[in-house]
Amino acid sequence: MSDTAAPAHVSIAGLSKTYKSPRGDVLALSTLDLELPRGSFISLLGPSGCGKSTLLKIVSGVEKPSAGSISIGGRAMDGTPDGLGMVFQRDVLMDWRSILNNVMLPVEFLNLPRSEYLPKARDLLNLFGIGEFADRYPWELSGGMRQRASICRALLTDPQLLLMDEPFGALDAFTRDELNMELQKTWMRTRKTVLFVTHSIPEAILLSDKIVVMAARPGRVVEVIDIDFPRPRPLSVREEPEFARMTRYIREIFESTGAFAARGAA
Ligand SMILES: Nc1ncnc2c1ncn2[C@@H]1O[C@H](COP(=O)(O)OP(=O)(O)OP(=O)(O)O)[C@@H](O)[C@H]1O
Ligand SMILES: [Mg+2]
Repeated sequence: MSDTAAPAHVSIAGLSKTYKSPRGDVLALSTLDLELPRGSFISLLGPSGCGKSTLLKIVSGVEKPSAGSISIGGRAMDGTPDGLGMVFQRDVLMDWRSILNNVMLPVEFLNLPRSEYLPKARDLLNLFGIGEFADRYPWELSGGMRQRASICRALLTDPQLLLMDEPFGALDAFTRDELNMELQKTWMRTRKTVLFVTHSIPEAILLSDKIVVMAARPGRVVEVIDIDFPRPRPLSVREEPEFARMTRYIREIFESTGAFAARGAA
């Protein structure tokens, strides 16, 4: 665990979540404590079933905790927080709406002025290299382009907290690298607090200020690791000896928790 001088944007204390089911209860998260300093990039890294998505769902207000508390900006969380953006592994674009109108969805939900956000949406699409596809439909785009559009949608209203649940898990390695770099650039420009879920140790090291290493059954935090490589981090940072040392260190944590079979933990 490490200390940080930055004030916490999100504070999670003693958080537990039990899912009730006819086949028995599942303790998805057990007494989890976590601080997300404002403006930091934090990754949740852990094997399937360790409660990463559950944690994101609780922070987004979709699921209720069974015990414990969350405060956001110093105030106890109550319902869905304001200023929240979400990106999922599978983009949830609507096939009958153009890319531009998909990106504009939050503006409709939140009843914000369309004329004000339309230029912002176009700027974001240009920034993420898909400006010329604004009037196309999702099914006309590749997986990587669709995920770019999902990120644009999450960023449109300039949320201070961005929750990303394996956003690049379904992409090929080249596209994933490219989007990692674009995400880093955007994060450095906007300094949002990002809570990012991944199964990939190198992806977590490349992007994060801190990595929260989790284990399953019950879902819990095993260790929080500071990542200090200077930014911007080029893809080639992965070839540095210190990067290899960090990768090995995290892999050994997984081995010690019996979770080395984690998908993509290489
Ligand atoms: N709605 C639900 N009802 C019952 N059990 C659930 C529910 N959602 C999740 N679980 C269980 O809670 C545990 C944690 O699930 P969660 O989806 O948070 O894991 P995860 O770390 O995101 O896994 P993955 O890497 O596969 O996405 C798992 O054992 C899962 O089966
Ligand atoms: Mg998940």
